[in-house]
Amino acid sequence: MRIVSGIQPTGNLHLGNYLGAIRNWVRMQDDIESHGGQCLFFLADLHAISMPHDPAQLTASTLEMVAALVACGVDPDRSILFNQAQVPAHAELQWLLTGTARMGWLNRMTQFKDKAGKHREGASIALFTYPVLQAADVLLYQATHVPVGEDQKQHLELARDIAQKFNNDFVPGYADENSEVPGVFTLPDPIIPPDAARIMSLRNGSAKMSKSDPSEMSRIDLIDDADTIMKKIKKAKTDPEPLPSEEKGLEGRAEAQNLVGIYAAMSETTVAGVLAEFGGEGFGKFKPALGELLVEKLSPINARFVELKQDRESLDAILAKGALKARELARPTLAAAYDALGLVRG
Ligand code: TYM
Repeated sequence: MRIVSGIQPTGNLHLGNYLGAIRNWVRMQDDIESHGGQCLFFLADLHAISMPHDPAQLTASTLEMVAALVACGVDPDRSILFNQAQVPAHAELQWLLTGTARMGWLNRMTQFKDKAGKHREGASIALFTYPVLQAADVLLYQATHVPVGEDQKQHLELARDIAQKFNNDFVPGYADENSEVPGVFTLPDPIIPPDAARIMSLRNGSAKMSKSDPSEMSRIDLIDDADTIMKKIKKAKTDPEPLPSEEKGLEGRAEAQNLVGIYAAMSETTVAGVLAEFGGEGFGKFKPALGELLVEKLSPINARFVELKQDRESLDAILAKGALKARELARPTLAAAYDALGLVRG
């Protein structure tokens, strides 16, 4: 098993990132020793330049994100934790894969459409080719499993399509019937948590919780203090009805469904279990309970984060150590990709 995943170091780590992806990173890291595999987790800083950004802010956010991930339980002694900018093979492999990826495939990416919006002509080339870099990120390490939230599923399907086409086109015998010839690239499987695949905004139950939402009230950041968490949950949009006793009763009530889902994911029970406890109660009772649960679970993370982020030297050292290992692991696959394409490297 080779587990690979990334996060953009823009803004703060929020509850959607945590429940959708990072908590699974930590679980997989903790389980993997018994499977004899390896975990690589990285900061997608090269992805972050696809949108307008402030360089000084990107540097600061990259280091803060390392502190946040370690505070969540990513262990730099057991997992390889690094940033893309220190491993040039990501950008190199991306270029090699742009010969295989098709315009039509990228044109179908919903995230590009969402982020470019009406200003398609003014969007950066990087925003359009972003999913090819994401494919390079996982294919470079022969990832078998990629823990992500639902919104990344389409990008991972594209990574599989690119890997498949590259192997078919450039590995002699790979595409033959019953072939046992290994490809240059492994086809990765996404790991999406069924209970927290898509955490929604606290202000709008039909928009996902996101770092780029201009309203801070729309998300819980993992670095929010107890008062801020309680305030955000109390102000979260809801409807006037009490909570139902059955899951069916949440249909058409996106905000209620989201809050109950967060409670279930955070307390590691099911939605049915939460409704068995709170069915018939109004939000006046449910919201304080949810706020308290979040404060209880997030405050140890918050405390570790505050301590770790002061120590710039340690954060730099974590990234340097991770990059060294990642560069080593990337080398054979990158070389195999150059060779398969017939590129002479001397
Ligand atoms: P990013 O930085 O937007 O998000 C990091 C992870 O958090 C998940 N996530 C969510 N899950 C549930 N509910 C939400 N509201 C929510 N918001 C975010 C994302 O699905 C993701 O798993 N392109 C990626 C970063 C990336 C990457 C990769 C991931 C670059 N290369 C290779 C995996 C493999 C991104 O922008 O994630």
